[in-house]
Amino acid sequence: MGDVTTPSPSSARITGWGTALPEKVVTNADLESTLDTTDEWIVERTGIRERRIGGTTTGLGIEAGRRAMERAGITGAEVDLVVLCTSTPDEAMPASASVIQHELGVAGGAVDLNAACSGFVYGLVAADGFLRAGLRRVLLIGAETMSRIVDWEDRGTAILFGDGAGAVVVERGQGPGRVLGFDLGSDGSLRHILHADTAGTIEMDGPEVFRRAVRVMVDSATRAMQQAGVEVEDLSLFVPHQANIRIIEAATRRLGIPDELIGTNLAAVGNTSAASIPLVLADAADDGRLRPGDLVLVIGFGAGMSWASAVIEWAR
Ligand code: ACO
Repeated sequence: MGDVTTPSPSSARITGWGTALPEKVVTNADLESTLDTTDEWIVERTGIRERRIGGTTTGLGIEAGRRAMERAGITGAEVDLVVLCTSTPDEAMPASASVIQHELGVAGGAVDLNAACSGFVYGLVAADGFLRAGLRRVLLIGAETMSRIVDWEDRGTAILFGDGAGAVVVERGQGPGRVLGFDLGSDGSLRHILHADTAGTIEMDGPEVFRRAVRVMVDSATRAMQQAGVEVEDLSLFVPHQANIRIIEAATRRLGIPDELIGTNLAAVGNTSAASIPLVLADAADDGRLRPGDLVLVIGFGAGMSWASAVIEWAR
């Protein structure tokens, strides 16, 4: 661990961000040749047009993490902890975060966090906690190789998922940048509606996940906004987990969030699980959609069932 100084109760500044996607593009038309499906069905039911496939979770995580550190202007020696949010680690042990820590020359610790597609928001809240406990900088990464656990003969799931990674540097310091409020939850009695056995592939009751997802997104986002003391009108951007455009539309309609505030990338990359939220956040930051002091609502949901929402203040 690096040099630990007095904790500040209120700063968790995102000072860098980066992404990594495999080069190989798999379009809906490509899937038409191996599955009983059509581009039209996939686009209409999910909003997904193509996805990126390939690489390893650590490889993608290293690339995204390196870019986030460059953007923050720091070296590995200045990072106290790597938190890797993933449900597709490269090995059962050690934690894939340890591989990333070594490759990036991180001086501090490393840990994997698995809350499926809710992982990145759990990680953000955990990073805030680590900073409050005394760390100065956390490299928080969402990285997945979902293609390794997809049954490519199952048209109900194969069309949905993709690989990728997004990373942020979260640090203590002066100026804007905080986690204003959050909500974390889980209902393990719903494990059966979306799961993958060890060394197995994803099994999913799609319509049931759909119904539950809309409900938990609305409830969790409402609780996070209440805890933060903010209303929808105060938000500059809303970044939901990218599972299905219809889930996003149904939830945002109920929350009263206008379309122009919703960040999405699933048409181009599909559902990248714990990587989906940091991928969208990084794109929005690169596009100049975020300014210091802007409030962003992030909402994750997925297998567990798990859910997690947070209102964050953008730092730079
Ligand atoms: N192409 C063509 N037809 C299909 C396909 C496909 N790829 N997949 C299913 N169908 C068929 C079904 O067999 C069914 O046919 P039938 O009426 O003859 O029985 C019909 O289409 C309707 O199937 P449904 O499953 O009811 O279709 P639905 O509109 O619910 O869409 C989908 C399915 C896209 C999976 C949807 O339920 C969904 O997105 N659910 C949420 C999934 C999700 O978000 N999972 C991940 C969340 S968390 C995480 O990220 C890990």
